Amino acid sequence: MKQQLEVIRKSALEAITAAAASEELEALRVKYLGKKGELTAVLKQMGKLSPEERPIMGQVANEVRAALEAAIDEARERLAAAKLEQQLIDEAIDVTIPGKEVRIGHKHPMYKALDEIKEIFVGMGFTVLDGPEVELASYNFDKLNAEEGHPSRDWSDTFYFDEDSRVMLRSQTSPMQVRAMETMKLPIRIIAPGRVYRKDEVDATHSPMFHQVEGMVIDKGVTMADLKGTLNAVMEELFGEGTVTRFRPHHFPFTEPSCEMDVQCHKCGGKGCPTCKGEGWIEVLGAGMVHPKVLEMSGIDSEEYTGWAFGMGLERLAMRRFKIADLRLIFENDVRFLEQF
Ligand code: PHE
Repeated sequence: MKQQLEVIRKSALEAITAAAASEELEALRVKYLGKKGELTAVLKQMGKLSPEERPIMGQVANEVRAALEAAIDEARERLAAAKLEQQLIDEAIDVTIPGKEVRIGHKHPMYKALDEIKEIFVGMGFTVLDGPEVELASYNFDKLNAEEGHPSRDWSDTFYFDEDSRVMLRSQTSPMQVRAMETMKLPIRIIAPGRVYRKDEVDATHSPMFHQVEGMVIDKGVTMADLKGTLNAVMEELFGEGTVTRFRPHHFPFTEPSCEMDVQCHKCGGKGCPTCKGEGWIEVLGAGMVHPKVLEMSGIDSEEYTGWAFGMGLERLAMRRFKIADLRLIFENDVRFLEQF
């Protein structure tokens, strides 16, 4: 029996020392010390021993039990410490690793150009207006003297919402002229930036959605000289002193006389290149003296008041301002492009 106990002690201690996980250790405890365990099985045979042998064997059995319990406790501590150690390794935070860079965006170059334009006009006493992109055809066309049948009203050019062609995506910011005249007190000095829509195919210079900045001045004794002087001053503010412009006669239903204004090409300085399509000039706006009929339709006495108006293409101005060669770059929103501004 003593031998039996020694065998148990030896094999149990070996197994306990080698245990690599707490579940394994618990299984060993059950195997040796549990109710149906090996040590318990041996102790159950004590009754067969002689009265002299019994206390001796009892002592040996107690020693073995104590040894196994001590070994199990020790192993439990060892395993807990190892587990903690592993956890500390797994969850370690390296405080010396550089942090992830937070990428901060910024304004789109076109809106930067718009901010500059607004600031220049506000400095000249203009008010900035905002207006609807879904517009009535009466504001976009009729009250601007573009009568029924005018080519710009065609379905092939305009996004209409209804079959009667009464509601549309505005094709120009000029309806803001009418909205200003109908709601504001004279004299009027406004600009109105925003999106406009036309059924254009996309190419280097066209997009079905683009931006305009409308401008209008109405007062007593306002002339074409004021229009030219103001717009030249704005272009010099925006593009730098000595910026060269030219005015060409043109036609718009709502201005008389009408003109277009070009700015000398920034790429070639007027020689002609792909950016200006060989012209040397970039067209940036349409303008003119507000047609007397337009004034009268909005209830302004055209004998007493005169005015001028313009509509500039914001993308074109931004391209000239930031020396961007292709319109599509403005809409593609490639971060590598945008980050340059
Ligand atoms: N609305 C015109 C266009 O889109 C531009 C313009 C505005 C012309 C104001 C004259 C006066 O082409």
